Amino acid sequence: MEPPQQQIKRTQKNRGFYVRMKLLQHKHGRPHEKSCFFRYYKWLLWLSLTLYFFSPYLITTTTNTNTNDNKNPTFLSKTRVVSASSRALIEFTGSDSQSHILQQTHDQQGLLSSLKDLKIYVYDLPPKYNTDWLNNERCSNHLFASEVAIHRALLTSDVRTFDPYEADLFFVPIYVSCNFSTVNGFPAIGHARSLLSSAVNLISSEYPFWNRTLGSDHVFVASHDFGACFHTMENVAIADGIPGFLKKSIILQTFGVKGKHPCQDVENVVIPPYVSPESVRTTLQRAPANGGRDIFAFFRGKMEVHPKNVSGRFYSKRVRTAIWRKYGGDGRFYLQRHRFAGYQSEIVRSVFCLCPLGWAPWSPRLVESVVLGCVPVIIADDIRLPFPEAVRWAEISLTVAERDVGKLGMIMEHVASTNLTAIQKNLMDPTVRRALLFNNQIEQGDATWQVLSALANKLDRSYRRSMASSQ
Ligand SMILES: *[C@@H]1O[C@H](CO)[C@@H](O)[C@H](O)[C@H]1NC(C)=O
Ligand SMILES: *[C@@H]1O[C@H](CO)[C@@H](O)[C@H](O)[C@H]1NC(C)=O
Ligand SMILES: *[C@@H]1O[C@H](CO)[C@@H](O)[C@H](O)[C@H]1NC(C)=O
Ligand SMILES: *[C@@H]1O[C@H](CO)[C@@H](O)[C@H](O)[C@H]1NC(C)=O
Repeated sequence: MEPPQQQIKRTQKNRGFYVRMKLLQHKHGRPHEKSCFFRYYKWLLWLSLTLYFFSPYLITTTTNTNTNDNKNPTFLSKTRVVSASSRALIEFTGSDSQSHILQQTHDQQGLLSSLKDLKIYVYDLPPKYNTDWLNNERCSNHLFASEVAIHRALLTSDVRTFDPYEADLFFVPIYVSCNFSTVNGFPAIGHARSLLSSAVNLISSEYPFWNRTLGSDHVFVASHDFGACFHTMENVAIADGIPGFLKKSIILQTFGVKGKHPCQDVENVVIPPYVSPESVRTTLQRAPANGGRDIFAFFRGKMEVHPKNVSGRFYSKRVRTAIWRKYGGDGRFYLQRHRFAGYQSEIVRSVFCLCPLGWAPWSPRLVESVVLGCVPVIIADDIRLPFPEAVRWAEISLTVAERDVGKLGMIMEHVASTNLTAIQKNLMDPTVRRALLFNNQIEQGDATWQVLSALANKLDRSYRRSMASSQ
């Protein structure tokens, strides 16, 4: 039944130690880096073996000589370097109470221990569900492209298993946002539900895994406006609701609000919108070296002077209209209503970047501002932001209530004269930027990594583990 390639992969599955080592490395495809990595890897292996044999000595001496052992710099820096192998060490030493010292260092770093040996099976669906759509180049680059990026990253990741019987979770790769047409000027993803339901029919009839849990260990991406409701207009999204066949599954979605909402009434993880890491790198390379930010407040995008009343709803709840009307002529504000491909070069020149709601509360501006070092000014009441454990949003952004949009100028001036420097400093933290970008191959701490880390907290849904623990 299995293609030969998959059988080969299976024989590798017990090499957990090696796999863990690999997971901790940044996996750039560039060849010279690769050879460098392997040299480093050998060294790591040597060091970890040494540490393995001498660890009881090391640990006892450090605890004896320094009661404040967690702060001992030489010991800590050593365990950092060998963090992957010391994880294996912990497993060797088992219940040894001294292993707690090592364990703590890991939890602080939030590294591999958080993935709990998560194993994901990625369904190999016919191309009409995914890769066919890539003929349209926009498909893998637009703001909804996390559905493509997560799939790609999983295919080469070490959490992927080729044996569905040892999987904790099942990833169903469907690109529903590629065919993002505009019907009468409004965005439409009308085909999404039928595409999804056809894929679910396929996997539930051809594989036994869907039926045994009714999909509760299956993972889908819903990266457009109202997530699991698969519609771009909130009223229609709510009326349609989440497709019945998805209600038990895990949805990775850009949409998130605090409190109840029919479109997040499902197990979910809020993910950032997709911004191409290459475009960010290019923008940063081209940015002036001294990084002067000569624009005080920046916004480029749709700003209707007279928003249409679409079944009782106005675009951006008229927030963008209010901004345009009040600050359109204000010299501190650089507001542009037309598309411009080079807008990222404007973000690197800006101090504050406005991130008002559109049809949905979230926008790609949230990510673009952060990764380009512009303080995001979030104007979207009750928005639930991605990866709150990795990104402390309150420390890197400014939140303005929708009803206070008329005081925007005053609020920003106040921050500029008080804590702007502190916010900008927090924003420079590379771990924050990394957490919001999806790379084609997983990098430690990047957006796909954060997704996996969130999924690792849902292992109670793993059929395999529940079977193992009930025996
Ligand atoms: C793309 O979406 C539109 C509207 O939702 C739909 O009519 C069309 O059939 C879709 N195209 C394909 C190739 O599925
Ligand atoms: C799963 O359940 C559906 C509906 O009951 C059924 O049609 C399908 O054949 C089942 N799949 C398997 C693999 O048994
Ligand atoms: C918007 O349209 C709805 C009906 O679609 C109507 O009930 C409501 O009064 C309109 N609101 C405004 C401010 O025009
Ligand atoms: C900066 O000041 C504003 C307004 O006084 C406050 O709301 C915000 O929490 C402060 N942010 C930081 C990171 O100190």
